[in-house]
Amino acid sequence: MHSTFEKLTATVIAALLLPLVSLAQPAAKKRMAALIDDNMQFAVKQYQVLKANTPADRMPRSFAKGKSITSDTEWWCSGFYPGTLWYLYEYTKDPDVKTEAEKRLTILEKEKRYTGNHDIGFMIFCSFGNAYRITGDKKYKDVIDTAAVYQLTRYRPSIKSIQSWNKSSNLNCPVIIDNMMNLEQLLWTSQNGGSSRFREIALIHANTTIKNHYRPDYSTFHIVDYNLDNGEIIKKVNGQGAHDTSAWSRGQAWGLYGFTMMYRFTRDQKYLNQAKHIANFILSHPNLPADKIPYWDYNAPQIPTSRDASAGAIAASALLELGQYTTGRERSRYVDAATVMLQSLSSDAYRAKLGENGGFLLKNSVGSFLANSEVDVPLTYADYYFLEGLLRYKKWYL
Ligand code: GLY
Repeated sequence: MHSTFEKLTATVIAALLLPLVSLAQPAAKKRMAALIDDNMQFAVKQYQVLKANTPADRMPRSFAKGKSITSDTEWWCSGFYPGTLWYLYEYTKDPDVKTEAEKRLTILEKEKRYTGNHDIGFMIFCSFGNAYRITGDKKYKDVIDTAAVYQLTRYRPSIKSIQSWNKSSNLNCPVIIDNMMNLEQLLWTSQNGGSSRFREIALIHANTTIKNHYRPDYSTFHIVDYNLDNGEIIKKVNGQGAHDTSAWSRGQAWGLYGFTMMYRFTRDQKYLNQAKHIANFILSHPNLPADKIPYWDYNAPQIPTSRDASAGAIAASALLELGQYTTGRERSRYVDAATVMLQSLSSDAYRAKLGENGGFLLKNSVGSFLANSEVDVPLTYADYYFLEGLLRYKKWYL
């Protein structure tokens, strides 16, 4: 027998969940359509502020202590601002947004030959990839094709991986979980007339990552450091997380997105299973807050601590894609969680007010907490994956 209190509690919980489980219902869809439209209209206006704060030969990076922080085009995030503009243009068809996106691609194009680290995928595919997808202009595809060739120069056969960062005083040949994201450019290039070698290497890298980065609970190390001579692992360590064996939130989100994307291109069940396990790690973690925007590390010693809106945005976008490859309760679990994430990010707790936050959409991301670098600030990739998630929601679930 249930007590009156238990029944009451169950009714309250059911009422709270109603907007989620009834997403297929017209009213819930209407609410999400309005939320998406509101965010897009806000973004067009807010990004005019971001544009005004960013010199023509620079890219936005962040905003702190009342000052805009910009970067050169070699910075790993240089593709996100133009990429976000293309997403905005895709939704609004605003010609001024398109003009600004085109201008920023002009200064970014030289990075198609960048070999200083693995991030040429983020830099070129998030920007030129969207430009080509939306316009079909062949000149953008040429840039991606070139970038994929340069990306492969960092492939190291002895470790069956693409090297992320160069050798440093404490790392010999580091490969970081974030690198899963850069594989999209290789897979896409093969699928669109390029050599099958790009795809082969992407698969080899992803398989090595499953083997060496992931722990039995499907959380991931940030960095695996290899000996290039004999291919052996030297150590598995932390970069931006709390400690070597902690679960750095953005790293978990990169992995979730990366393996979901691997399944998109390969239809190999192994990658889908990996993505589902990672999703389960994230969604069932006791330290995931009720609004589903993670702290900067699931094992941060000082919880409650700073949230990482970027990890929430990346995970939301990835979960929406994972929902496309699953059915029934499993699909609902992923899509409902992503819905909460997008709703949270759209609230005043995370979304800036017009004219504030240096013109960025989202507040509260964390670059590297322990290094006291970019803590509780806007970051370009949080905005990028937030808008991507909203567009994915519109395309697949409205
Ligand atoms: N790829 C670097 C980061 O996620 O901070």
